[in-house]
Amino acid sequence: MTKPLTTFDLLKMKKENKPITMLTAYDYPTAQMVDSAGIDMILVGDSLGNVVLGYDTTVPVTIDDMVHHTKAVTRGAKRALVVADLPFLTYHLSREETLRSAGRLMQEGGAKAVKLEGGQELAETVEALVTAGIPVVGHMGLTPQSVHQMGGYRVQGKTAAAAHKLLEDAKALEKAGIFALVLECIPAELAKRITEALDIPTIGIGAGPHCSGQVLVIHDLLGINSQFKPKFVKRYANLHEDIVKALESYRDEVEKGLFPGPEHTFSMPDEELKKIY
Ligand code: KIV
Repeated sequence: MTKPLTTFDLLKMKKENKPITMLTAYDYPTAQMVDSAGIDMILVGDSLGNVVLGYDTTVPVTIDDMVHHTKAVTRGAKRALVVADLPFLTYHLSREETLRSAGRLMQEGGAKAVKLEGGQELAETVEALVTAGIPVVGHMGLTPQSVHQMGGYRVQGKTAAAAHKLLEDAKALEKAGIFALVLECIPAELAKRITEALDIPTIGIGAGPHCSGQVLVIHDLLGINSQFKPKFVKRYANLHEDIVKALESYRDEVEKGLFPGPEHTFSMPDEELKKIY
């Protein structure tokens, strides 16, 4: 059996300059496929709201939604380290509520770590979680839970002042105890500086090639949502098109009486058939 990856393995990978791979998953079969592909980390992201639940933003996602999907993912992941997102406003109200939310993702969901969005203002929150034995991943740059405050999904850290703030935030979160840091939509040069300044690994999404690892939303990588293609996404498949084609073939064959064929059909022994009036 493959040995499950730990936070220590990831720190070692950064030290040894081995790129870390991470993808999102929200259900059991996807987690199985991501795990089989040898991806190191699975993020049960609150992008769940956008790509699975049909919301415009991640704001409506609840802790119950996250626990439900995290449970499914952890049943499918054998080697990859599963990180679950703490959704909007579940780590701001009080220390107690933060610990309860994170505790649910670990205890009920089976996650090995939680992720939260923000900078040095979360240092105490991170310390409280780490003190309770909960490994934490930070998330800085474009933080989708603050989309309404940021005025949209924009590249962050483009001025020297903004870049400096992100660098200081990263150092403060590392000091507070995070074991990895997601950097979303920031200039590659800044991501490089942050990566060099930290001992912990950085995982980039729209943050260029100098991070310790990369993460993508699996629906983007597989082309499941054909409408959405930001600059930082590379599509490795066109599943939306492939799936619609398959469904049209099914519809066609049913309408033409070609499916089900004899090979998909059960039959009854003749002598039994004769007994039916
Ligand atoms: O929710 C998510 O999928 C994320 C990634 C974009 C990093 O946070």
